[in-house]
Amino acid sequence: MTAKTGDILSIENITKSFSGVKVLSDISFGIRSGEIMGLIGENGAGKSTLIKIISGIYQPDSGSLKLDGKETAIPDYITAKSLGIAIVPQEFNLINTLTVFENIFLGNEIRRRPGLLDKQKMRELSAKQLEDLKMPVRVNQLVSSLSVAEKQMVEISKALMLHARLLVMDEPTTTLTSREVETLFTLMRDLKSQGVTIIFVSHKLNEVKTICDRITVLRDGNLISVDEAASVNEEDIARKMIGRKDFAKIFPEKLPREAGTEVLDVNGLVVKGLFDGLSFSLRRGEVLGFAGLVGSGRTELAESVMGLRPVQGGTISVNGKTVHIKKPADALRYKLGYLSEDRQGKGIVQGFNLPQNVTLISLKEYLKWVLIDKKAETDKTAEYVRAFKIRAASDKMQLRFLSGGNQQKVYLSRWLDTGPEILILDEPTRGIDVNAKHEIYEFIHQLAERGISCLVISSELEEVIGLCSRVYVMREGKIAGCLEGNHINGEEIMFHATGIKGST
Ligand SMILES: Nc1ncnc2c1ncn2[C@@H]1O[C@H](COP(=O)(O)OP(=O)(O)OP(=O)(O)O)[C@@H](O)[C@H]1O
Ligand SMILES: [Mg+2]
Repeated sequence: MTAKTGDILSIENITKSFSGVKVLSDISFGIRSGEIMGLIGENGAGKSTLIKIISGIYQPDSGSLKLDGKETAIPDYITAKSLGIAIVPQEFNLINTLTVFENIFLGNEIRRRPGLLDKQKMRELSAKQLEDLKMPVRVNQLVSSLSVAEKQMVEISKALMLHARLLVMDEPTTTLTSREVETLFTLMRDLKSQGVTIIFVSHKLNEVKTICDRITVLRDGNLISVDEAASVNEEDIARKMIGRKDFAKIFPEKLPREAGTEVLDVNGLVVKGLFDGLSFSLRRGEVLGFAGLVGSGRTELAESVMGLRPVQGGTISVNGKTVHIKKPADALRYKLGYLSEDRQGKGIVQGFNLPQNVTLISLKEYLKWVLIDKKAETDKTAEYVRAFKIRAASDKMQLRFLSGGNQQKVYLSRWLDTGPEILILDEPTRGIDVNAKHEIYEFIHQLAERGISCLVISSELEEVIGLCSRVYVMREGKIAGCLEGNHINGEEIMFHATGIKGST
């Protein structure tokens, strides 16, 4: 294949295997200069692997890359940078013990003269960049204190600061709400008008359709199609991704809301600087939603209930009895589970394999006297692998080698394995492809049918609307509204989330 004129990058016959398993086979397509190219495919299809090859993190087994028509080796990330390629990686690459501006300029520091950093300048530029992204983060803050959405914006700022010609973004919107996505899109359109080329990965097909000029679909490491975005609809793309005509309905039927007894009752919760007397309740077998903008306090609320933050006042009752939850182990004792939104930071253990990750909390169930019953552990893991179609070459694989979406599925399995009665799921389908989402939604409904109460925090409007039978909307640390039945719609949720009428 020869590169077309007008292509900034031409991917030619790229093949890549890991331990004998082919992950990309003979991929060839071109990226036009100045376009936004969408790259989509199911979890494990090979998107991140291809992106890592383009940005020098991985080397292909065969095939080549042509930049501006010239065959170019990209042996490492530094070379990619010098060639004008910047990447927003799927898994954050930030250093927690450094500040926001230090992270943004890490490896790209501005100096007044050799050896002397121009911190003032770096602070100013970082602040300006974050302001453009409408992210109210202080540049002197430590990255460890940021929410995942804020970390995402720091990662985006870091890439933008390189003023690259080719910007590669691997799922930059998974942690953002629709408003923040809009801001990011405005910025991407600006960059495009300045001639920057962008490769954009997302599982949200509406986003891909909205922002991209063309869309490339990968399936099982094969190139399926490259289409003009205007010529395909979301269903067409989904079909190409899955490779089947029949396309399961995404959301299961909502359960008729039965007024089960209250299993969790939070009354007058006070957490300094966050909540000043917040109350809500969760009923048996209910799928309860928590909607709101990023920063509205939903994650902090979950963390407070789970004993991850000191609580100054109010009561928490489980099954009618007041309980004192001072640490996560207390919450576990009352059969509360919490899937954190921060899979990477607070969830999976990168160096552990699948069974070790699944049974991390429920391990005592697998003990035979003092030994771990490995067979029981492996069998149980295989059940989750089947239920969620977790894609891994073997269950002995360390989690770090699984694709992002597959890591999320393993993390979810861990919580299911604790046998919770109350399960708080913070952005449970983050990074999960459209098809696999369906399985997770079905599963949440099955849990509810078995009497397990699920509290789902989600920034995807569609998800809370399709999944939950009752929805609390938070705004600035307060419950702004509680919606049921037909009132669970985008308009009413956004009204409570923002306080502005007609805001969707
Ligand atoms: N370093 C590695 N060693 C072994 N296998 C790997 C490695 N990196 C990726 N893989 C495997 O390659 C396949 C493709 O992974 P990749 O991360 O490219 O998927 P993806 O399309 O980005 O999926 P997702 O939407 O879940 O992020 C997966 O099966 C994954 O386990
Ligand atoms: Mg990926």
